[in-house]
Amino acid sequence: MHKQKQIQIAKHLLELKDARTTDLAGNIFRQKKSDYVSQDVAQREKDILFRNYPLLICLSCEIVNPGDYFCDDFSGVPIIVIRTSEGEVSAFRNICRHRGARLACDKGSHLRKFSCPYHAWSYATDTGDLISIPFNQGFDEIDKQEYGLVKLPVIEQYGMVFVQPTPGDEIELDDYLDGFAEDLAGFNLTAYHHFETRVLEAPLNWKLVVDTFMETYHLSTLHGNTVSAYLHNNLCHFDALGPHLRMTGARKTIDQLRDSAEEDWDLLAHTALVYVLFPNTVFIMQGDHLETWRVYPGVNPNESRMYVSLYTPELSTTESTRRHWNNNMDLLMATVLDEDFPLASNIQKDFAVCDNLLLFGRNEPALQHFHKTLADRLA
Ligand code: FES
Ligand SMILES: [Fe+2]
Repeated sequence: MHKQKQIQIAKHLLELKDARTTDLAGNIFRQKKSDYVSQDVAQREKDILFRNYPLLICLSCEIVNPGDYFCDDFSGVPIIVIRTSEGEVSAFRNICRHRGARLACDKGSHLRKFSCPYHAWSYATDTGDLISIPFNQGFDEIDKQEYGLVKLPVIEQYGMVFVQPTPGDEIELDDYLDGFAEDLAGFNLTAYHHFETRVLEAPLNWKLVVDTFMETYHLSTLHGNTVSAYLHNNLCHFDALGPHLRMTGARKTIDQLRDSAEEDWDLLAHTALVYVLFPNTVFIMQGDHLETWRVYPGVNPNESRMYVSLYTPELSTTESTRRHWNNNMDLLMATVLDEDFPLASNIQKDFAVCDNLLLFGRNEPALQHFHKTLADRLA
């Protein structure tokens, strides 16, 4: 993020704090609770949002060397991305063309070709071409060129890897990222390292998981014993970035900025920068590290699955740095798993009997923007 933008946001946060207010939307927004429980809405979301949009799959640091690969099983299309011998990134449907077995799972390294664990058909990692069929005679009628892996559009930029789960044209990433691209360019994620990923399931609609992160209005009540110690309640700066958004929450240290010259201000040190990368990724720059929540629908509308990852600017080589990042991960899990999710799972259960219209207040502009964008893209 450019220095001028950092200064502008920091100044605005200090003004909001002095005025005891927060960024406000023009009006209250009424959100249908049925969008969180409807099978029809859930299916449209899967068909549109989780098929036709670029999805963040991993950071470049997770597939550094040729043969490193990474699988994503939650979008509805099993995806495998791999670093080829040329150093490029390829992406395919993780489905063998013989009888549909997955070629690999989780992540790994040193893969020189995809070799199916079922009957050992093998495929090239760069093109997906079918290389060999054991006992070829059994399949001598087929044209091997037609039985390569299904290639998916993929792009690696800003230290991130995006895949579109449906085959098609190349991803125009900067068009898609809109105003988020400028911020990303300044984060230098190409230098980051993967610390840990946890895979979670929750009895919540996937949007309810994303909603959790989009306002600071609940910090002092729900998180009185955890993150409320670090972040101000109901104080944030909001910007819509095309379909994405940036919500900047103020740390309790933000007043320290008043003691130094503007050109020395470091916004990241005194805020939590929460982005929603449309449709399903919450991307949080937490001062000294990055957290991502890649959230997917489950089988039913009241279920979700997600990958929660923590990335650090430096490699953790000592016991004390590992302890430091473990503590960060533990705080994150304690806040979300012990506080946000139990409360939200009751909300999900009680949707059956609550009013159809939920309220997103003027002080919850990020929620409003996310749900208006969803409605627009699903219409
Ligand atoms: S399913 Fe892959 S080789 Fe048979
Ligand atoms: Fe929360």
